[in-house]
Amino acid sequence: MTGIPPRPRFRHRIRFPAADPHSLAQDEAHFSLVEDGKEVSIRFHDYGAIYERPGLYEQLFYDRLKCQSPEKVVDILRYTMETGRENFSELRVLEFGAGNGMVGEELARHGVARIVGLDILEEAKMATDRDRPGIYDEYYVRELGMPGTEPRPELYEWRFNCLITVAALGFGDIPPSAFREAFNYVEDGGWIAFNIKETFLDNRDTSGFSVFIKNLILTEYLDIHHLERYQHRLSIDGRPLYYFGLAGRKNANIPESFGS
Ligand SMILES: C[S@@+](CC[C@H](N)C(=O)[O-])C[C@H]1O[C@@H](n2cnc3c(N)ncnc32)[C@H](O)[C@@H]1O
Repeated sequence: MTGIPPRPRFRHRIRFPAADPHSLAQDEAHFSLVEDGKEVSIRFHDYGAIYERPGLYEQLFYDRLKCQSPEKVVDILRYTMETGRENFSELRVLEFGAGNGMVGEELARHGVARIVGLDILEEAKMATDRDRPGIYDEYYVRELGMPGTEPRPELYEWRFNCLITVAALGFGDIPPSAFREAFNYVEDGGWIAFNIKETFLDNRDTSGFSVFIKNLILTEYLDIHHLERYQHRLSIDGRPLYYFGLAGRKNANIPESFGS
């Protein structure tokens, strides 16, 4: 049997701005799409508009900008666990900032016990249901880390022993308070894996997320097992963007008083 050949993905007509991309921060950069003869401008961080268009996220970040982070961060976690003779297949993973399911797909490819996605955007869940149905055991649309909100019982019920977050920390995406809440849903001794832009570990960076991460790495809540610098993707003008991928073990909950 030859099977059904994969359906070719619809190709979007993407145009990157020609003029001075250096003048824009990574979260302000934009691109144009030609749709029905009209040019539409979309910010790279307008994920809702990107997820609404099937295949656009993959074409933009993975085909064009060569993003390798889902594969890389999952590999770092697997390698770290194998080195410690731990069983990857027993992970019950909370994937925070799950988007349209690229990391979930990678985790499923290697086989874990449970994958639960969580994102702030309804469009992310809709795109996952549309493009990668069945990858997640559950997918929640939630905003974590809001002042005055109680922890959510439905998240504790999964007894997560892993939190993974890829390409979603800082830059106006996941703030420290939300990451703290997600971290605290993981059992003590559980695995934590994420990536961050390399400058977040630089002392000259005093932005909220950078300070939070540096404090987290230096304190007792997380033990670092692996830290690796790698090429996350290309910028729109073709320069490599380097990130750190990190895997470690949670020791204890991060208290609300923890400085950010
Ligand atoms: C660049 S995408 C990464 C998606 C996926 N992790 C990947 O690697 O393909 C960033 C995702 O983080 C989500 N996000 C941003 N802020 C968030 C928040 N406060 N809580 C949950 N998700 C958030 C966005 O909606 C978006 O889906």
